[in-house]
Amino acid sequence: MSAPNIETIVSLSKRRGFVFPASDIYGGLGSSWDYGPLGVELANNIKQSWWRWLVHERDDVEGLDSSIIQNRLVWKYSGHETTFSDPLVDCRTCKGRFREDKLRDVECPNEPGVCAGSGKECSLTEARQFNLMFRTTIGPVSSDDDPASLAYLRPETAQGIFINFKNVLDTSRRKLPFGIAQIGKSFRNEVTPGNFIFRTREFEQMEMEYFCRADDAARIHQEWIDDFWKWFESLGIKPENLKLYEQGPDELAHYAVRCVDILYKFFPEREEGQAQFDELMGIANRTDFDLKTHSKKPEDADGKRLNPDSTEDLSYFDPTTNERFYPYCIEPAAGVNRTVLAVLMDAYTEKTNDKGETRVILKLTPDLAPIKVAVLPLAKNKPEIVAMAKGLKKELLPSMRTVYDDTGGIGKLYARQDEIGTPFCVTVDHESLVDDAVTVRDRDTWEQERVKVAELKEYLLKRLYT
Ligand code: GAP
Repeated sequence: MSAPNIETIVSLSKRRGFVFPASDIYGGLGSSWDYGPLGVELANNIKQSWWRWLVHERDDVEGLDSSIIQNRLVWKYSGHETTFSDPLVDCRTCKGRFREDKLRDVECPNEPGVCAGSGKECSLTEARQFNLMFRTTIGPVSSDDDPASLAYLRPETAQGIFINFKNVLDTSRRKLPFGIAQIGKSFRNEVTPGNFIFRTREFEQMEMEYFCRADDAARIHQEWIDDFWKWFESLGIKPENLKLYEQGPDELAHYAVRCVDILYKFFPEREEGQAQFDELMGIANRTDFDLKTHSKKPEDADGKRLNPDSTEDLSYFDPTTNERFYPYCIEPAAGVNRTVLAVLMDAYTEKTNDKGETRVILKLTPDLAPIKVAVLPLAKNKPEIVAMAKGLKKELLPSMRTVYDDTGGIGKLYARQDEIGTPFCVTVDHESLVDDAVTVRDRDTWEQERVKVAELKEYLLKRLYT
């Protein structure tokens, strides 16, 4: 089987209810997607895995949930108002609009033949900078022309963390090094969104800002790169589909001294090599830029970052050394949607059954699978079997997401569960009424085992989580 590409996943997603095109009944809205019953479970499981691993299982990270709309000054001092832009170019021939730095990735929006179907062939204008922040206005009498009412939808969750640094520090009584983690929606008016949920204008981020001393920053940065690689592997992503990318000096954001991206092989259909890979997450050393820029008393010799609007000094005082300074910050920033896509692509496999029919099996890890167990009655016209199956589902539900399905023959029911990644099917048959046992079928091997009803919950929990 050739590696599944994004199109394979689009089709599976629509067919089985992972992801739907947004506003579909009104003709859709370019590059917007809604997560269906299975998609929202998968995304939630990924977010819970990240949160558990980072905030609960470690002892040095606190959580936060900050506002999407903040005071406009946040985006002035973060630099987003002036620098958060993409180079936009227009084609004089086909009138297509592209990101100059991403021409390789785009298709000409017009009929092939106009500009040979690729932005590369276009007759392009000079690039102009296009700010990616979505603007909105605050208050009932606001107007677009009134600067006092202008606000933005956040383009990253990170700034909400920096401006809460002192609040978290004072209330949690943390000492360096420590991190603040946040998961939430971000918005960017992308010039060329596309490739399904890979690049959209509304998306979700999982970001952490890890504060430390400048001397420790390089080492801690490398540790987080290694740890996040392992976290992606724990989600079932194969290491051969991941790659590290060290950003060059001309690619680094103005505040960063080093940034390493973890790339995933999102485009296996492209020519072998770097073009097959694109960013899954970025891990940056942001220096002390952010805490300084949002502080009322930055101590920069050049005076460039003077901030007369902030009411707080976001420096850190170390009582053991009597030093006051601005901590450095290491930022691992991942996208929920791109992680969903990578997990689906890596889990997608095909297998041929005895009859020569090809079946899709979604080999999601049990932790990420939207549904853990499906209970299936072998004969839906036999009330005792149906009652036993429904009773089992009820019993399992508080411990694991379980569904009951009797809408087809057993082969069809198994195939449906394989395709959505359900690790185990439990079948109730005529014999079950006699021996008080059921058949448990493994999604990946299709092997079946007879298990006593009294031991079923423990058996499934063990196989799911150990
Ligand atoms: N605070 C740093 C920051 O936002 P970023 O590299 O711009 O860094 C982090 O974003 C992650 O967010 C990316 O690696 C990607 O997974 C996700 N992301 C960014 N823009 C996205 C978009 N338009 N659509 C989907 N995911 C996006």
